[in-house]
Amino acid sequence: MPAYAVIGAQWGDEGKGKIIDVLAEDAAIIARYSGGNNAGHTVMNDAGTFKLHLVPSGICWPHAMNVIGNGVVVDPDVLLKEIKENKLDPQHLTVSDRAHLIMPWHIILDRLEEERRGSTAIGTTGRGVGPAYVDKVSRQGLRVGELLDPQDLVLRLPEIVNFKNEMITKVYGGNPINIDTVFQKTSEWISELAPYIRPVENLIAEALDSNRNVIVEGAQGALLDLDHGTYPYVTSSNPTVGGTLTGLGMGPTSYGGVVGVYKAYCTRVGAGPFPTEIEGEVAESLRGERSNPNSEYGTTTGRARRVGWFDGVAGRYSAKVNGFDAMIITRLDILDGWDEIKICIAYEIDGIRTEQFPVDAAMLERAKPIYETVPGWKESTRSITDENQLNDGARAYISKLEQIVGVRTKIISTGPLRKETLVLDPIINH
Ligand code: GDP
Ligand code: IMO
Ligand code: MG
Repeated sequence: MPAYAVIGAQWGDEGKGKIIDVLAEDAAIIARYSGGNNAGHTVMNDAGTFKLHLVPSGICWPHAMNVIGNGVVVDPDVLLKEIKENKLDPQHLTVSDRAHLIMPWHIILDRLEEERRGSTAIGTTGRGVGPAYVDKVSRQGLRVGELLDPQDLVLRLPEIVNFKNEMITKVYGGNPINIDTVFQKTSEWISELAPYIRPVENLIAEALDSNRNVIVEGAQGALLDLDHGTYPYVTSSNPTVGGTLTGLGMGPTSYGGVVGVYKAYCTRVGAGPFPTEIEGEVAESLRGERSNPNSEYGTTTGRARRVGWFDGVAGRYSAKVNGFDAMIITRLDILDGWDEIKICIAYEIDGIRTEQFPVDAAMLERAKPIYETVPGWKESTRSITDENQLNDGARAYISKLEQIVGVRTKIISTGPLRKETLVLDPIINH
């Protein structure tokens, strides 16, 4: 059973990229299944620092094939940029012919719709991801595979652009798109991307059939899931485990493990309920200086991330909707040196205590966290790779999180570098 899903368990930015880079050593394929370049995955190793938005985080391993699955929405400009920057050839990168294209009008519509929403804006990344999924679901989307049939595409484009321009100008009062720019872009994409475009279902099935490991790379996080997240303050795809199956074309019996990546505290970018959010000095301290590349500022948009204590109610819910069999805890080192640390164990909503994560965003907005305060630790956990070096305070904190979430920890990340990783129990069985 050689597929392993590595899924964001909170509101994204849990450190998935770092963990995938670690695990990819033992994988033949690393595959993205959802989202688009709204993601920002940081990989840091001896080869340098990589901030990846679309290509999977296995690109630093020469043996691995990186796959962009059908469930992903692809902005070809971003893809080409990442291919060039990272010198990726078709032996190391495959893009599904069934993945949908983010076209220039999607990016414009993302911005216009956010402006229209005004005070109820989602705080999207503005990358056109939502509008591209809207077109997919309404069966008006363009798929990556259509770049392989340019004659047909060229015939279809004028009608699509006209329709989108009607929407942009008449509904939103925006400026229309110039069709010549679209033609020009499209012809560049056709010539440069064609060698990378292939069906991915067979590629993955062949790897699994021959007992080679496949790592399935989550984007965003469970609480941003279109169905299971804090709707409507969510992304437009399914980062949870169900999305891996539809987003790649594989079955659940392929899995040898489904693991959740949890930050040792919580962050969120964009609008929406965040019960354990903190502000002021403690928050600033957790967030770190903007000038510090390891601080809590968005990898994609540079926005300051909202920060808060670990939310056990949300964490347990996330483990349930994904069926996690293990968790990975990241950024533990950020909590070094605190006198005490809070963990949310329940909410009080409208005067009633609950341990259930509410479905309604307005209700979650009213949730007051009930905290358990645990002692911090003074010793550094930074760069620890040996379990024996883990101090008692940090050990107790991890145990507490395990108890609340209901899942055991297999890896603790103790720094952003590949080598700053403490493996308690290997994720991939050899
Ligand atoms: P992703 O979207 O889940 O891949 O996460 P991001 O890359 O957006 O954000 C995670 C940030 O934390 C990045 O700056 C990583 O380099 C960094 N990071 C990952 N793991 C650790 C860790 O254990 N300790 C510290 N200090 N930083 C980490
Ligand atoms: P990674 O993969 C954190 C958030 C946006 C916004 C909401 C909808 O790096 O963890 P969208 O552009 O998707 O329509 O925005 O989702 N969001 C993320 N937040 N990490 C991400 O990805 C995110 N991708 C989207 O901030 O609140
Ligand atoms: Mg990120």
